[in-house]
Amino acid sequence: MKAITLRQPAGLDQLQRVELADPGEPGPGEIRVRIHASSLNYHDLGVVVGRLPSADGRIPMSDGAGVVEAIGEGVDEFAVGDAVVSTFFPSWLDGGPTLSDFATVPGDGVDGYAREFVVRPAHWFTRAPRGYSHAQAATLTTAGLTAWRALVVDAQLKAGDTVAVLGTGGVSIFALQFAKRMGATVIGTSSSDEKLERLRTLGVDHTINYRRDADWSAKVLEFTNGRGVDVVVEVGGPDTLTHSIRACRTGGHIALIGTLTGVAGPVPTVDFMRRQQKLQGLIVGSRKHQRDMVRALEVTGIKPVIDRTFALDEIADAFAHQAAGKHFGKLCLAI
Ligand SMILES: NC(=O)c1ccc[n+]([C@@H]2O[C@H](COP(=O)([O-])OP(=O)(O)OC[C@H]3O[C@@H](n4cnc5c(N)ncnc54)[C@H](OP(=O)(O)O)[C@@H]3O)[C@@H](O)[C@H]2O)c1
Repeated sequence: MKAITLRQPAGLDQLQRVELADPGEPGPGEIRVRIHASSLNYHDLGVVVGRLPSADGRIPMSDGAGVVEAIGEGVDEFAVGDAVVSTFFPSWLDGGPTLSDFATVPGDGVDGYAREFVVRPAHWFTRAPRGYSHAQAATLTTAGLTAWRALVVDAQLKAGDTVAVLGTGGVSIFALQFAKRMGATVIGTSSSDEKLERLRTLGVDHTINYRRDADWSAKVLEFTNGRGVDVVVEVGGPDTLTHSIRACRTGGHIALIGTLTGVAGPVPTVDFMRRQQKLQGLIVGSRKHQRDMVRALEVTGIKPVIDRTFALDEIADAFAHQAAGKHFGKLCLAI
């Protein structure tokens, strides 16, 4: 079968197209899936450029969507022909988080989905939403589920709340779609006026160019009559957290998700304490969260925003496109 592996030391030029042995038939409790699509995340970019260490020869890509080709003995959740999508933490089925690293994550600690076929335990996948293309389904494993968990599971968003989403990457666009569909007011930021225009066409209520208005939290306070937002989807990290704390209302919720500006930095602890906010770190979510999200996507009709789909052989170009920040929403791979 066709696959991509990553040689070490990692780098985009170390992504290699290879022929690997077919994984064969599924054993008890397993399914064989023809992978048709994956999607790019900032995390995958970290693996392929070597910011996140991985093993020599690792098959990259955490997200995988495709069709069940065969089922092993005892599998009753899936049937041959079902459209399925992979989970980020194959061993986190339900309940609260217990994992704090990427040792079990496909495309990082174990081989991922830049390949045509995989045989895995059935619980490594969930059903994909009805009516979704494989590329659309592939956007859910990481970006979709992170946005869902941040807003629905952790922040317990309700109609009438106001949400701030930072930038126009995969997680943020999903967050704005969920938030709008659930009756929230959304404030969106971007470094690009063109992307801000696209945010408005998706229903974002207020937009801020964070390059031009470096003090973007002040604008958020203007838009909310000084109150601040109920929830911030914080994907920036050290350079944006201070503003996120200022932009969030007293008693509000900050979903600490991203590292776009780095991995450590100063925190205005007194501001944070006085505002009595909740700062919730999170990594994606459980299989149960994914099943709940799939149901919600079917009922709401939300469809992922896909900027562009590249062929598997163009994987290095796809990552270069992502690294250049040219995308709006998700980038996908057709496999
Ligand atoms: N904790 C988790 O479970 C989890 C899950 C998924 C992702 N993440 C993290 O969340 C972050 C976003 O991931 P992603 O996959 O959505 O990335 P992505 O699709 O590559 O999005 C990157 C976008 O972020 C925006 N951005 C960059 N610097 C910014 C800044 N200083 N302020 C505001 N926005 C900024 C840019 O938007 P504009 O071009 O519009 O300016 C850029 O296009 C990454 O750090 C990733 O590692 C964490």
